[in-house]
Amino acid sequence: MNDLERYFNNNAGRPIQKWQHYFDIYDRHFSRFRGSEVHVVEIGVCGGGSLQMWKDYFGRDAKIYGVDINPNCKKLEEESIETLIGDQENREFLESLTVEIPRIDILIDDGGHTMEQQINTFEVLFPHIDKNGIYLCEDLHTSYWKRFGGGYHKAGTFVEYSKEFIDRINGWHSHRVTEFTESVDSLHYYDSVLVIEKKPREKPTKARVA
Ligand SMILES: C[S@@+](CC[C@H](N)C(=O)[O-])C[C@H]1O[C@@H](n2cnc3c(N)ncnc32)[C@H](O)[C@@H]1O
Repeated sequence: MNDLERYFNNNAGRPIQKWQHYFDIYDRHFSRFRGSEVHVVEIGVCGGGSLQMWKDYFGRDAKIYGVDINPNCKKLEEESIETLIGDQENREFLESLTVEIPRIDILIDDGGHTMEQQINTFEVLFPHIDKNGIYLCEDLHTSYWKRFGGGYHKAGTFVEYSKEFIDRINGWHSHRVTEFTESVDSLHYYDSVLVIEKKPREKPTKARVA
């Protein structure tokens, strides 16, 4: 059991809403940032328990930002935890976050989970993730759920939209190099979660004996 799962199991404080298998995914991708001055943004605050979980996990040098449409989330601020209020579907609001938050090392999209919200959030905030940072969008099962705008293989869902990322990361081989090709190291698809790891990349070369 990792520290996040342990924290969740022992938590008697503010509520946390996560799926069980997410803890391993978080730990696999986030552990290298522990103990550093990491800036973490989570869209979707709800009861605020996950913000406190991140604070505990990343340590005292971390800065945790929660973003939510519900103004009551402002009351959940404490040392190292700041909340910003607004609608993640609104691109102007998302742009304003890039001014208010000095750096984003890790972004977790756990907000309203509709297709427009997930796509707008990705399009506006992904370019602002640090060059060695991580973008994680969770609850992608809504891409299959009608009430969130989803449907199996339906055009415009976040899952369908993100399938294009496979072509973008392979851009060197189709002569379609984009900023995405040059800045994304890897894509990790899990049940309901996509993790995008950034790292500056150059044109790949065949390995040769020195
Ligand atoms: C699933 S809860 C977040 C759970 C929390 N991250 C946790 O792990 O405990 C979703 C939150 O997203 C917020 N939300 C819904 N629509 C939103 C929107 N358009 N913009 C920003 N936040 C939104 C809701 O108010 C709610 O607090």
